[in-house]
Amino acid sequence: MAPLLDVRNLETHFHTQDGVVKAVDNVSFYVNRGETLGIVGESGCGKSVTSLSIMRLIPSPPGKIAGGQIFFDGEDLLQANEQQMRHIRGNRIAMIFQDPMTSLNPVLTVGRQITESLELHLKLTKREALSRAGELLDMVGIPSASKRLDNYPHQFSGGMRQRVMIAMALACNPELLIADEPTTALDVTIQAQILELINRLKEELDMAVMIITHDLGVVAGMTDRVTVMYAGKVVEEAKTSELFENPRMPYTIGLLRSIPRLDEGRGRKLNPIRGLPPSLIDLPQLCPFSPRCDYVRDECLTKTPPLRSVAQDHRAACLFDITMETPLSVQQSEGVAA
Ligand SMILES: Nc1ncnc2c1ncn2[C@@H]1O[C@H](COP(=O)(O)OP(=O)(O)OP(=O)(O)O)[C@@H](O)[C@H]1O
Ligand SMILES: [Mg+2]
Repeated sequence: MAPLLDVRNLETHFHTQDGVVKAVDNVSFYVNRGETLGIVGESGCGKSVTSLSIMRLIPSPPGKIAGGQIFFDGEDLLQANEQQMRHIRGNRIAMIFQDPMTSLNPVLTVGRQITESLELHLKLTKREALSRAGELLDMVGIPSASKRLDNYPHQFSGGMRQRVMIAMALACNPELLIADEPTTALDVTIQAQILELINRLKEELDMAVMIITHDLGVVAGMTDRVTVMYAGKVVEEAKTSELFENPRMPYTIGLLRSIPRLDEGRGRKLNPIRGLPPSLIDLPQLCPFSPRCDYVRDECLTKTPPLRSVAQDHRAACLFDITMETPLSVQQSEGVAA
């Protein structure tokens, strides 16, 4: 069956004083119906811009979707007009934004913000919408839900605001939920509760979920497949278990080495990836990860590696099979460098 969401060769640019920022550069990925895809990558690699492009919410100017296709249920969203997009947003694709305070209106009660969307999209009456809003807050675990409808966003804690956002996102039973770092600002206990909530609602409502995070722990716990982004590009994609067991792109390997693992005991040192991601303006024709890569070779500096198939349903943007090699840093510390 065709994927629910099929993003092909997406290009999203920002025209700034310093030059063109290629925030999303030839990005392709898909989400099947009912599945959870994780999009992972460091700050600034283009995760939010990718999701805002899908929702057609890129501020223009300075932003522009410069190329590609975004098929949702077979229709290219980049060809849809604003009225069609308004119908799709909220009704069929819902998004939980990275910062709940920027997407909740501080001067409207939480109840009003939920009922507004129910009246608009589902054509419910005021009274029906109010009762459904209470149910939704209850569903996301807000205590005394119907009494909290008259509260303003600032009267909720951070974790509860995130729940309100989820309730709003789910108000119209979307087919796809895009959750952009839904738990970054929350403490670990609340984080776990929110992720569990998204997972449970996904099952109950039979949604597909695209979850954006820089936290591989989140990915391990709740996704079917993972797409890894680096410097505006997809650099690896695989089933989640395959990605954790057999990562092929040195960037993914670096990400995995930098998280603690319960199965590896206390002796293992955590190795953060050295250096910083490159500027997305005028990226040269070389592997964008090469300045930070432990396995770098001369060829890596001659062209940008394309995504290539490395195993079944597993693609990686590295020119070499580096899994059997000793990383440069280890060679140097052992004095065996070339
Ligand atoms: N309005 C804008 N004008 C200029 N550049 C922008 C704009 N919005 C985003 N960018 C640039 O696009 C790139 C990708 O940004 P994006 O917000 O998608 O990163 P991200 O992967 O979501 O990071 P984070 O994990 O910090 O949320 C960044 O280099 C950013 O500076
Ligand atoms: Mg972001």
